Amino acid sequence: MGMSAIRPKPDLLDSDYREALAAYVAYGGEALLARGYELGRKALADGRSIPELVGVHSRALRTLASDDRGPREPGLLIDSAETFLAETLSPFEMTHRGYRDSLIAWRHINEMLEQEVRRIAHALHDDSGQLLVSVHLQLAALAREIPAAAPKIQECQQVLDQAEQQLRHLSHELRPMVLDDLGWLAAIEFLAAAVSGRTRIPVDVRSSITQRLPAPVETALYRVVQEALTNAARHSKASRIGIEIDQELDSLRCLISDDGVGFEVESCVRRGGLGLRGMRERLGALGGTLHIVSAPGQGAQIRFNLPLGR
Ligand SMILES: Nc1ncnc2c1ncn2[C@@H]1O[C@H](COP(=O)(O)OP(=O)(O)OP(=O)(O)O)[C@@H](O)[C@H]1O
Ligand SMILES: [Mg+2]
Repeated sequence: MGMSAIRPKPDLLDSDYREALAAYVAYGGEALLARGYELGRKALADGRSIPELVGVHSRALRTLASDDRGPREPGLLIDSAETFLAETLSPFEMTHRGYRDSLIAWRHINEMLEQEVRRIAHALHDDSGQLLVSVHLQLAALAREIPAAAPKIQECQQVLDQAEQQLRHLSHELRPMVLDDLGWLAAIEFLAAAVSGRTRIPVDVRSSITQRLPAPVETALYRVVQEALTNAARHSKASRIGIEIDQELDSLRCLISDDGVGFEVESCVRRGGLGLRGMRERLGALGGTLHIVSAPGQGAQIRFNLPLGR
């Protein structure tokens, strides 16, 4: 195969753009300006970047400026070329705005979901809990009235106790009331103790900040740590798990590390469940970033940054 096979094709965008820019600079008007918009829209659809387009623009401008048939007045050339470039870039600007809007929508949806979860957790804990208590009282009265049935009734009471415990468990897992009452650090310590108690893996929590944070930040922090910790407990077979939280300028920095089996990050994120992806999106919606370092046999380090939002 000859070298010509890998020579890049002449870029049509360059010549199309030069032609459209020359026409607009020479004659002006909305119709010729709209060609800039069209070129920008097509470039965006073709996956071109803004720096690429700016390169195309400067090359076209240089050619035009050195053309004797070009406009006599350099100031005029620069002004109308700028208008044309802005028009070409406007589809990119709209995409960027759309992205920002969807981040805001994401944040709203998360807050709504969280409120809904909070409502269900409270209903489970308080309302259903109350119903069970009244069944308990009635069973006790019945046992007194019909002594012969007492052993059977006691069995019912034991099942009720279990149901009550499960309800309480479920409501705490859905949304621990500690999070609202005592804040993120207490909630994370609570969670760490629960996971550690269940798995027998020691979980060490260390934080150099303790102050309360805006509610959406506390929720995101808690949810991301919860997912990372649940993953470590479920998948890592680690002998210890650490959670460290520090402040860095206007952000908090968090590291959840384990010394377990590790994993192939790229492929696990791609084929994995909602966990890792959800973490990234939840953080992204608040301007935070996620960074995962792991490899088979190397343990895992989940790091993230989250603006404190004050
Ligand atoms: N700390 C860890 N140690 C070892 N493997 C991990 C760890 N964290 C994640 N993984 C791997 O990454 C995969 C993807 O994690 P992710 O949280 O996205 O999904 P999941 O935990 O399998 O399911 P879900 O979170 O949706 O219930 C996991 O299935 C697991 O193989
Ligand atoms: Mg998971």
